[in-house]
Amino acid sequence: MIRILYIQASPRGQRSASAQVAQAYIDALQKKDRVELDLLDVWKEHLPAFDGAALDAKYAGLSGQPLNQEQQAAWAAIGALGARFRAAERIVVSVPMWNFGIPYRLKQLIDLVTQKDVTFTFDENGFGGMLKKQSAILVCARGLSYVDGTPMSEDNLDYQKAYLISWLTFLGVSEIKTITVEKTLLGADASAASLASGITEATRLAA
Ligand SMILES: Cc1cc2nc3c(=O)[nH]c(=O)nc-3n(C[C@H](O)[C@H](O)[C@H](O)COP(=O)(O)O)c2cc1C
Repeated sequence: MIRILYIQASPRGQRSASAQVAQAYIDALQKKDRVELDLLDVWKEHLPAFDGAALDAKYAGLSGQPLNQEQQAAWAAIGALGARFRAAERIVVSVPMWNFGIPYRLKQLIDLVTQKDVTFTFDENGFGGMLKKQSAILVCARGLSYVDGTPMSEDNLDYQKAYLISWLTFLGVSEIKTITVEKTLLGADASAASLASGITEATRLAA
């Protein structure tokens, strides 16, 4: 049995290239193992705003101050989201590139759960990720191509995959495998070929 937290970050449902590849991965895994799946669709999940009581709770906690009732409730919601990350053995993320980075709802989730004693620790000796038992599969879709040698790679415009790898590494995840689905906006043939190779790679990784 494997517990998977599947973070779905495209709002495009069945049409999403990243979600289709991630689904192929999960389907292939389900053929060989029992999968306990926790789907966290960032567009459907209630993600609290990170302001007001939540922000005050963060700073109160960091400075050792007691939390008032409102802050406790806000922090409990954040803790519940973080618990889903800690409970998982594998984190699967399907994500479209938006303006060279990630969709704002995924960034909101990241801002919510990346908290001291929720997903990482720190003291005078430095940081420590709390997700050490987890591995990750990152499926990144993008309309154009950013592989080495393309004009886009020379401009260092990929703040999607690099950012998510840094974030997961910071949280302690050491085994991160990536699948990139490129050229989804460069015509039907290029898009279909990229999707097919992403699905093949996903099936291979699951095996
Ligand atoms: C708001 C928005 C911004 C986008 N920005 C970029 C971008 O900066 N670079 C790129 O290559 N494609 C960009 N795209 C195209 C998507 O990355 C592409 O359609 C991808 O396949 C979406 O993944 P999905 O099918 O999983 O949703 C953008 C699409 C949207 C809707």
